[in-house]
Amino acid sequence: PKDVGILALEVYFPAQYVDQTELEKYDSVEAGKYTVGLGQTQMGFCSVQEDINSLCLTVVQRLMERTKLPWDNVGRLEVGTETIIDKSKAVKTVLMELFQDSGNTDIEGIDTTNACYGGTASLFNAANWVESSSWDGRYAMVVCGDIAVYASGNARSTGGAGAVAMLVGPNSPLVLERGLRGTHMENAYDFYKPHLASEYPVVDGKLSILCYLRALDRCYAFYRKKIQNQWKQAGIERSFTLDDFQFMIFHTPFCKLVQKSVARLMFNDFLSANSDVQNSRYKGLEAFRDLKLEDTYFNKEVEKAFQKASLDTFNQKTKSSLNLSTLNGNTYTSSLYGCLASLLSQHTAQQLAGTRIGAFSYGSGLAASLFSIQVSQDATPGSPLDKLVSSVSDLPKRLASRKCVSPEEFSEVMLQREKYSHEVNFSPPGDINSLFPGTWYLEQVDGMHRRKYARR
Ligand code: ACO
Repeated sequence: PKDVGILALEVYFPAQYVDQTELEKYDSVEAGKYTVGLGQTQMGFCSVQEDINSLCLTVVQRLMERTKLPWDNVGRLEVGTETIIDKSKAVKTVLMELFQDSGNTDIEGIDTTNACYGGTASLFNAANWVESSSWDGRYAMVVCGDIAVYASGNARSTGGAGAVAMLVGPNSPLVLERGLRGTHMENAYDFYKPHLASEYPVVDGKLSILCYLRALDRCYAFYRKKIQNQWKQAGIERSFTLDDFQFMIFHTPFCKLVQKSVARLMFNDFLSANSDVQNSRYKGLEAFRDLKLEDTYFNKEVEKAFQKASLDTFNQKTKSSLNLSTLNGNTYTSSLYGCLASLLSQHTAQQLAGTRIGAFSYGSGLAASLFSIQVSQDATPGSPLDKLVSSVSDLPKRLASRKCVSPEEFSEVMLQREKYSHEVNFSPPGDINSLFPGTWYLEQVDGMHRRKYARR
């Protein structure tokens, strides 16, 4: 099969959010810490009526309805999530309920977990399946989603919630470029969830940022090496730089870190350039030429200088991908794919056609990959790219239709989530009319922890 990649994409986020300016006041932190310091404006969150199963049910059903795909055309379904409500039973098994009426039970794939990386692992698995001898000619579907909640304290404002479903197959408008994945994995305790009865992670915030940036450096180095090798085989001998990505999207724990990441990639380009290029292309930055990547993770001068130098690059290549993250927060496994949807929603098919999108995925613990997407050349009306782009064009409108909830009410909901997370024999409190129409919700948990869902 040719041009294996993403054919269609659906995004779900909760219908309520808390405003970050109000949260700053409520948390008694300095004005600007969350909004300017972290770059976050609003944060979506779920009441007890929603859990990871309902989020994934909603996003899969919406994708199937939008694409009008017959349910038996899916041969593989993978779920990437770190929102674990059962140590054995996969979210995937719950999603099989949607396929029941069609009689299609011949669907490979289960859940994949490692912090925010599970969505990417699932996407790679899905694409690999389509390109393999196991492929049966049908579509693969990748579902990723999370409810990102932190204990009250300095990490809470970097939460969020949402899910993304993607249809993967041949002849796609967003092709995953073969052989071009740079991966870095290592053992780190930067963010992890050892308390199996709690939704909250244990976080070493500073270490998590260091690990993220180090993984970015490493993945970028591997990616560049691989693409330069491919070029060499085609007779082209030159260095890959950020200029070769027309767009660049990132896993987004908070938007400020992404801006720093663009600066970081430019710093990588700068260090590996020869002195002629350093003097011409990177004028004014020569003072940093003897520094080493590994010594500069918290070097404020480097950070500031390269953030300034890369501002236009950030504005052109990345900023438009952050719309959803700014307004909804971190959605862990689906964060990167929400950025992809944002990027698509802010451009026309013509603007996107023929471009290469760089994508960096990071999951604490840690697993990270930098890969690239080649956008198809064909942007004619009715083309797969045109259809994909128009399918996400309602994102800004949907975001604007959410309800703003006070920090007091948000904190109350967090307490309710704590209370009910391992409860039995209950129906979640709350008004189903506060959910978007078509949303699946948790209707009841019985005495044996069995969960029952209904659709608004
Ligand atoms: N106006 C403007 N900016 C401000 C203000 C203000 N009044 N006050 C603080 N800031 C800036 C700080 O200078 C800092 O920016 P800088 O790093 O560019 O200097 C930023 O706001 C954050 O302030 P800190 O004091 O560093 O924040 P704190 O340490 O309390 O918490 C953290 C931030 C560590 C990110 C925390 O929210 C956290 O642990 N989040 C979860 C972990 C995370 O997301 N890690 C990222 C990768 S792993 C993953 O995806 C889960």
